[in-house]
Amino acid sequence: MKEPTTTEIEIETSAVTTMLPPPLTGSPHQALVERLKDYGQEGVFALWDELSPEERDHLLRDIENLDLPRIDRIIRCSLHSQGLPVAAIEPVPENCVSTVDERTKEDREKWWRMGLKAIYEGKLGVVLLSGGQGTRLGSSDPKGCYNIGLPSGKSLFQIQAERILCVQRLAAQAMSEGSTRPVTIQWYIMTSPFTHEPTQKFFESHKYFGLEPEQVTFFQQGTLPCISKDGKFIMETPFSLAKAPDGNGGVYAALKSSRLLEDMASRGIKYVDCYGVDNVLVRVADPTFLGYFIDKGAASAAKVVRKAYPQEKVGVFVRRGKGGPLTVVEYTELDQSMASATNQQTGRLQFCWSNVCLHMFTLEFLNQVVNGLEKDSVYHLAEKKIPSINGFTEGLKLEQFIFDCFPYAPSTALFEVLREEEFAPVKNANGSNFDTPDSARLLVLRLHTRWVVAAGGFLTHSVPLYATGVEVSPLCSYTGENLEAICRGRTFHAPCEISL
Ligand code: UTP
Repeated sequence: MKEPTTTEIEIETSAVTTMLPPPLTGSPHQALVERLKDYGQEGVFALWDELSPEERDHLLRDIENLDLPRIDRIIRCSLHSQGLPVAAIEPVPENCVSTVDERTKEDREKWWRMGLKAIYEGKLGVVLLSGGQGTRLGSSDPKGCYNIGLPSGKSLFQIQAERILCVQRLAAQAMSEGSTRPVTIQWYIMTSPFTHEPTQKFFESHKYFGLEPEQVTFFQQGTLPCISKDGKFIMETPFSLAKAPDGNGGVYAALKSSRLLEDMASRGIKYVDCYGVDNVLVRVADPTFLGYFIDKGAASAAKVVRKAYPQEKVGVFVRRGKGGPLTVVEYTELDQSMASATNQQTGRLQFCWSNVCLHMFTLEFLNQVVNGLEKDSVYHLAEKKIPSINGFTEGLKLEQFIFDCFPYAPSTALFEVLREEEFAPVKNANGSNFDTPDSARLLVLRLHTRWVVAAGGFLTHSVPLYATGVEVSPLCSYTGENLEAICRGRTFHAPCEISL
């Protein structure tokens, strides 16, 4: 330990006389200041003299818990990689995509049966990405607890849990030939320090929405300090760093550190469905997608929707470099001419396959990717408003994305789905122009109304039809099947929920 300097002794004396907190001399603080200097981050102690003993303790713990060499490497590599040339991109080859148009009824039925069989055999695990802070939505609860105003008042978590219950029942009915062997799908729910406790409590207080508590596993992703554009840590308060979850790609490191890939293997899981919490139409554990994935023999797959218009702000799948792997690029990486380039024969956009965070992986591939990505120190830099001592300030969050795995995949298959059937995102608060709870609710009501009418039901309504409709409980039907017995010849007064 270094001897105290004269200046420090003076500070110590004056601290006693003015009743300031205890001295700094020879303290862990001093050692940390020296360590932080190595990384140019000693500014975090700028307000040390004004802190109470408790606040000092808090700050010291905050810093001690950081893996400074790793974080420094990530910051330097991520800032450095900005603007570096990247391999040219090409459209996804047609043979990598299963389009809605080319799928036959036989294909769909075959994949549905294959998927149900694998689920019956316990080969599917489901990972939910639910660690985001949902800042745009502005709710203080985790997004999954949000009630988007459907007639049932169900939260996103409840809707998803009930879809799992439905698939379990469908698999049991299809495969068990009269016996009643129960089918269980393991659900791994990733949270972050911001969402962990309230998520767990929500599930407990709702009795896991009818699932067995043992089939639900919560695990936490990591956080990283938020930084200014020149790479300095931002202070949220004088005694704590501003931190944020390390992106939904933090799932790979979190699966590894919580040893959940071993847990999956020990249960016989071979395929992993992975999706984001904020899509109300998500087909969790979709047997058709699983069957397609198994049939195709790919290491990874993604459901994609067609880009709605050339300048739509969505990430799209591309091929990186001549014959390179499929990967996702942000809309900012596609210049105007590429975004609007069309295929001469079909007239359709060349870069049209939007990523909507619905993925399937083999467990084998996940094992490879958690090790590969761990060594990758280039993170995405997301410009966000960061809470700081001086109010909200422009800063950067360091994030990995779930789709960062694709360049590592030996093979990736894309599976087109219809937006109006499988994609109802909840991103922004009501009052915004798109992707709000209101817009998502309408998408659900429209789809379910179509199901009910197709099954022979009728609707009356007290408000114009475009603003209302019926909601079908996931406990009744997964994709509109088995509704005739409930709906044929019956009239429903919208808005209402049709349940068992
Ligand atoms: P978004 O990127 O839309 O972020 O997440 P968000 O946190 O929900 O919302 P904003 O940007 O703060 O407004 C897409 C999916 O990825 C998950 C989210 O929970 C959502 O399911 N996610 C995001 C994580 O699990 N961890 C993260 O660090 C970020």
